[in-house]
Amino acid sequence: MRLFCNNTFFYSPFGNEGGAVITVHAPATVANMVCGFDVLGFAVNEPYDEMHIRFCDKPGVTIHNLDDYDLPTQPELNVAGAALLAMLEEIPEPIGFELAICKQIKPGSGVGSSAASSAGAVVAANRLLNERFSKQDLVRFAMNGEKVASGVKHADNIAPCIYGGVTLIRSIFPLDIVPLTVPQLYVTIVHPQIEVRTADARSILKQQVLLKDAIRQWGNIAGLVAGLLQEDYDLIGRSLEDVLIEPVRSILIPGFDTIKKNSREAGALGGGISGSGPSIFMLSKDEATAKEVQAQMHAVYERLSLDHHTYVTTINPTGVRLVDQ
Ligand code: HSE
Repeated sequence: MRLFCNNTFFYSPFGNEGGAVITVHAPATVANMVCGFDVLGFAVNEPYDEMHIRFCDKPGVTIHNLDDYDLPTQPELNVAGAALLAMLEEIPEPIGFELAICKQIKPGSGVGSSAASSAGAVVAANRLLNERFSKQDLVRFAMNGEKVASGVKHADNIAPCIYGGVTLIRSIFPLDIVPLTVPQLYVTIVHPQIEVRTADARSILKQQVLLKDAIRQWGNIAGLVAGLLQEDYDLIGRSLEDVLIEPVRSILIPGFDTIKKNSREAGALGGGISGSGPSIFMLSKDEATAKEVQAQMHAVYERLSLDHHTYVTTINPTGVRLVDQ
């Protein structure tokens, strides 16, 4: 069997024998959506990870890395492996999964790299199992991957990665996920080539907030959700404000304030830190504006001589997608 990774063709580590192989594309996600720390997130169409899975004779999880990121292949230490092990705990039969991962979402980039791996793995495995588990079950399994990656089971990357669109995580324990909408917006993302570990970006946050700040944040979250559902772009723009997390985390991201200001001046509705950073995202109503925002982001990092990647993409409506091989 032949597989591809980053447009390079090579022979599958699965060999020729064995059963059906399921291939999925697991999209990047933007968690928090500025004001909704740990409760809002959305999926985008680019970039995405590609993963292949099949049953194998050896019970448990066997992992092959097809990319150059050198991530652990021991299942307990691998986010996809941890998610699959959580799934296996709820399967009475002795089952073995063999997984080959081609990551295109760089780990530590702030666009849900770990979530794509863990969500992609459980969605693909569930297909092998003839959809035995619900989407909510899959989120629950995949959150074990987030625990491995950041020490905390948050779902604001996992849920949109599995459901697509913009997703509200009203509660984690018990899990209460509310798929909201798929706004027709363009997303510009810049990823400065520095790494911010989610665990570090969480450890610097204040554990207490002032009531006046909490009130402002509640207003913004409610305004953002209402704006998205009513397609009220001015309301979306006004609500893309974070008075709790961004002031602390933005110091980790070179050029953050300038990029935000220049993007708004270029016509973006607004935006901020993607997840725990260092990526920054901006929302725009049309592609031309999104591309102008991309040019502004590029110019800032050129001036700072900082390597960076940019994407102009749209909101992913479906989440992890099965792909014909
Ligand atoms: N809500 C999480 C955080 C997302 O901001 O720490 C991490 O991608």
